[in-house]
Amino acid sequence: MRSLLDFAGLLCTAILIFRPGVFALSDHSPTFGSNGFANWGSATWPLSSVGVPLVPQTTDHETLELLKQIDSKRIQSAIQTLVNFGTRHTASDTTSPTRGIGAARKWLLSEMTGLAKPSNGAMNVSMPCYFQAAQPSSGMPIGADVCNVQVEIKGAVDPNRTYVYTGHYDSRRLNNSNNMDDAPGADDNASAVSIALELVRILAPIVAKNPPAASIIIAAVSGEEQGLYGSNFLAQTLKNASVNVQGNFNDDIVGSGSNAPFDPQNQHTVRIFGAGTDYLTLPARIITEIIATGYQDDTPARHLGRYVQELNAGAAFVTDMDVALIYKPDRFHRGGDHESFPKAGFPGIRFTEPQEDFYHQHQDPRTQDGVIYGDEIEYVDFDYTARVGRVNLLSLWSIANAPATPSNFTYDVNIGFLASSLTTPADYLDNIIKLYWNTNPVDPLLDYYEIVWRPMSSQQWTHMVNVGTQNTTRLPISKDNAVFGLRAVGKNGKKSPATYALAVESEYFGS
Ligand SMILES: *[C@@H]1O[C@H](CO)[C@@H](O)[C@H](O)[C@H]1NC(C)=O
Ligand SMILES: *[C@@H]1O[C@H](CO)[C@@H](O)[C@H](O)[C@H]1NC(C)=O
Ligand SMILES: *[C@@H]1O[C@H](CO)[C@@H](O)[C@H](O)[C@H]1NC(C)=O
Ligand SMILES: *[C@@H]1O[C@H](CO)[C@@H](O)[C@H](O)[C@H]1NC(C)=O
Ligand SMILES: *[C@@H]1O[C@H](CO)[C@@H](O)[C@H](O)[C@H]1NC(C)=O
Ligand SMILES: *[C@@H]1O[C@H](CO)[C@@H](O)[C@H](O)[C@H]1NC(C)=O
Repeated sequence: MRSLLDFAGLLCTAILIFRPGVFALSDHSPTFGSNGFANWGSATWPLSSVGVPLVPQTTDHETLELLKQIDSKRIQSAIQTLVNFGTRHTASDTTSPTRGIGAARKWLLSEMTGLAKPSNGAMNVSMPCYFQAAQPSSGMPIGADVCNVQVEIKGAVDPNRTYVYTGHYDSRRLNNSNNMDDAPGADDNASAVSIALELVRILAPIVAKNPPAASIIIAAVSGEEQGLYGSNFLAQTLKNASVNVQGNFNDDIVGSGSNAPFDPQNQHTVRIFGAGTDYLTLPARIITEIIATGYQDDTPARHLGRYVQELNAGAAFVTDMDVALIYKPDRFHRGGDHESFPKAGFPGIRFTEPQEDFYHQHQDPRTQDGVIYGDEIEYVDFDYTARVGRVNLLSLWSIANAPATPSNFTYDVNIGFLASSLTTPADYLDNIIKLYWNTNPVDPLLDYYEIVWRPMSSQQWTHMVNVGTQNTTRLPISKDNAVFGLRAVGKNGKKSPATYALAVESEYFGS
């Protein structure tokens, strides 16, 4: 939590230095919690007694023990094996037993199958493929099979609800069409695939006895460098099968915590990117409403990011990581496999290292003017990748055992408006907010609902309110100043990601 504390300290200093006459301790002065969590946003704005300051949800002992099993030596060994295939270009050799993408995927299939054995059949390992025609302009000089190696775990309570982990195993050189020469792709992105293998290994014996409530897919996908082929194939397959995909966690470039030529490095932070409104395949009416009411930072992808950040804050003493939320679809003018999911109507986020090392990414391995280039294994920090793996395992396992994100969270559009006639109800001339949501069908995992809110200036929720199992509430806080989310809290204490409040016609729900 070091960076959050630093941030709190800076904020404190800034306030003291720049606003000496204004700043005075009072009941409404910011309070800086020991873990820095309560500092997101401003504790003094808006003034409100609604709810209590958000305390990060905690994680059960068994799950925390699972995180400790992520093994940086196994991560190193998996990355080394993948690098040893020479190149994993999407259109590289498929017949050699030792070189090219064919050998790499055969190894991944056999490795995943072996790791899944202790699941006693609860893990279904498969390698769906499709033929991708040549596309010389995007790095496919010849047509080739694009194959994903994937493990599916069927949920015991809500099998339709599915969460998908992806990492791509193809690699590239500067010339993205070069399907012959070495492209080690250690950081980009064998690092993410090594995490997929660890997730399968650690969860196999667990799901044999206790399958998760919702379904999980863990996939090593291909064809990322040429056009997100494999992830698109997976997302479209799920969409065509009407699977209720509630989130994609895509890791890409999660290896370079150190050894980069840039300093300082932060080896204890992982960045999360996710799409805003423009990526949503929502009806235009809804997108217009989101923009008109300022909910563009409350898309399902942003909610997933907030979920991971909060969950991690409550388990940071084990993950040893901070999560940096970045409200952008991806890095500047770049992209990755998480984009395939919003295209299919599903939220997706990307986990990536805090600072990229461009000398050792996409580069042809060489020494030039005394600088070593190439995505070689010596530039991967396996302990860093292991820490990213812990955040992934924590998120995937917790979310699949939490109740579903509630649906149809709406607010009354009439309240908080000027009078329009002598008969405007007094109820409408108010700064309260009235919220409604669906409680049917009843989620068997549910204990109670919780409304979370934050001032617009905060990335993370700052407050939470237990609203029981009812389907409506009135809160004395203006919808002008805050944004609201609703989440479901399970009998096991696990909380779903939040969903945003959208206004609907008041006649639909009554007022
Ligand atoms: C395993 O997964 C594959 C790919 O989704 C699917 O075609 C197959 O039917 C599944 N097998 C079982 C036993 O569920
Ligand atoms: C890139 O590689 C492809 C396939 O090997 C080759 O045909 C093409 O000429 C190369 N392009 C450049 C600019 O070297
Ligand atoms: C999904 O369905 C569409 C429309 O039928 C079809 O064109 C597409 O090939 C399907 N994609 C996959 C991956 O099954
Ligand atoms: C799964 O959920 C989707 C909605 O997300 C729905 O369209 C589909 O019918 C559901 N499938 C099953 C088998 O319940
Ligand atoms: C959610 O509300 C819409 C109307 O805005 C309605 O058509 C839909 O059936 C509701 N969904 C559920 C699950 O009740
Ligand atoms: C809320 O619950 C009441 C019954 O308790 C029901 O009459 C009403 O239709 C529900 N409203 C919504 C939006 O589900």
